Amino acid sequence: MRAPIALEQKKPKETAPMSNVHVVDHPLVQHKLTLMRDKVVSTKGFRQLLNEIGMLLAYEVTRDLPIEMVDVETPLARMKAPSISGKKLVFAPILRAGVGFLDGMLNLVPSARVAHIGLYRNPETLEAVEYYFKAPADVADRLVIVMDPMLATANSAVAAIDRLKARGVKDIRFVCLLAAPEGIARLTKAHPDVEIWTAAIDEKLNDHGYIVPGLGDAGDRMFGTK
Ligand code: PRP
Ligand code: URA
Repeated sequence: MRAPIALEQKKPKETAPMSNVHVVDHPLVQHKLTLMRDKVVSTKGFRQLLNEIGMLLAYEVTRDLPIEMVDVETPLARMKAPSISGKKLVFAPILRAGVGFLDGMLNLVPSARVAHIGLYRNPETLEAVEYYFKAPADVADRLVIVMDPMLATANSAVAAIDRLKARGVKDIRFVCLLAAPEGIARLTKAHPDVEIWTAAIDEKLNDHGYIVPGLGDAGDRMFGTK
C-alpha cells in the first residue's frame, strides 16, 4: 500500500479566528487549485478549472440545506423521498473574477437566481469601488451565496456583503478559492454571521495586497488582461 503523502504547505503567518471557516480539502479541489496556481496555465485552462472548482465548492456550501420528505410515484410504487426545502438561493458573484465560479455553481443549482456585484480594488488604497449592483427583487427572502476567487484584504467581500445587508438580506455565505489570514480576520470581524468556504488559506498578503503564494490576479488570468 502507498504511504500517505504529507501536505507540505507553509502555515498562515497570522492566526485568524477559524470557527467560521470551512476549508474544502477534497483531493479534486486541491489538485485543480494546484494546476491553477501554476503561472504557465493558459487563460482557457484557468477559466475551465475555476468553473470546475465552482461546481465542487457549490456541492460543499449547500451540504446542509434543509430537506423535506415529499410524495413521489416511481414506475413501481409511491414513496416519500427527500427534496430541498426552505429558502431559495441567490448566487452573487463579485465582478469580474467571481463570474468564473458562476456557471459551475448554476450547473448544480440551475434554478438559483443571480445577483451581480461590480467592484474593483483601487490599486493604491485597496479600497473597493462599486460600479454595478443588480439583485433579484426578492433577494432579502433568499439565502445568498457571495462568490469571489480571492479573499485578500476582504475589502471587496465586506463591501459586497454590506450592500446585500442594506437590501435586507439576512442569510449570507461567502465562497472563495484562496483566502489570506488577514482577509479572514477582517471579514469575520465585519460580518461574524457570514460563514466562509475556501479551498486554501495561504500564508500572507504582500505589500500590494496580493495573496502569497496565491495565484496572481484572478481576473487578469481569467480574461487574459493586464
Ligand atoms: C480582485 C478579486 C477580488 C478582490 C479581492 O478583484 O477578484 O474581487 O480583488 O481583493 P480584496 O479582498 O483585497 O478586496 P479586482 O479588484 O482586481 O477586480 P477584477 O476582478 O475586476 O479584476
Ligand atoms: N486579487 C487577486 O486577484 N489576487 C490577489 O492575490 C489579491 C487580490
